[in-house]
Amino acid sequence: MELAPIKSELANRLTSSRYEHVLRVAELSKKMAKQHGVSETAAEKAALFHDIAKCMKKEELLRRLEEAGEDKRLVDFHHELWHGPVGAIIARETFGINDEDVLNAVRFHTTGRANMSMLEKILFIADLIEPGRQFPGVDELREKSKGSIDKAMYYCIGHSIDYLVSKRAAIFPDSFDCYNEYMLKEGII
Ligand SMILES: [Fe+2]
Ligand SMILES: [Fe+2]
Repeated sequence: MELAPIKSELANRLTSSRYEHVLRVAELSKKMAKQHGVSETAAEKAALFHDIAKCMKKEELLRRLEEAGEDKRLVDFHHELWHGPVGAIIARETFGINDEDVLNAVRFHTTGRANMSMLEKILFIADLIEPGRQFPGVDELREKSKGSIDKAMYYCIGHSIDYLVSKRAAIFPDSFDCYNEYMLKEGII
C-alpha cells in the first residue's frame, strides 16, 4: 500500500503538530518493530492511522461509533477515548485496511486492553514516549522501555493509570484489565 496518499490525507485532517506527532510515532514504532521481530510495515501503517480521527468533532465521533455498533460502554467515558475505535473504522472503511492486528492496534491505542498483541503494545508504548512527548517522568519511561516489551508495558500502563487517578478521571475497564495483567505478571521487572 502506498503511504503517500495516507500521509496527505493525514496532513489534511490533522493539525500540523498532531501530524508531526504521528510521523514520530511511525518512526519509533518501526524501530521497535524491528527490535522485537514484528512487521515494520504493519507497525508503520498502524502508527500512521492511530490518530486519524483525533481532530474530528465529538458529535461526529459519536455518530461513527454508534453507526458501527462499537462498544457501548465508550459513550459514558471521556470522548478522548473515542478517536481510537473511530480511527480503526476509518482505516477499514475508507482505506480498505483489513489486517485485524493493525486495526486492533489503532482501536486500542487509547485504552490498552488485556492480552495485547506485540503490535498493539508497540503502538501503545510508541505513542506515549515518542521523542516529542514532554511530561514529567517521560525520560524515565523511555529508559525503562528499552528492554522487554512487557516491562515497557508495565511502566507505560502504570503511568497512564497514575495520571488518570491523579486527575480523578474515570478509567475505562479495558485499561484496568491491561494494568492488572502487567501488575500480576511475575518477573517482569
Ligand atoms: Fe491517540
Ligand atoms: Fe497519538
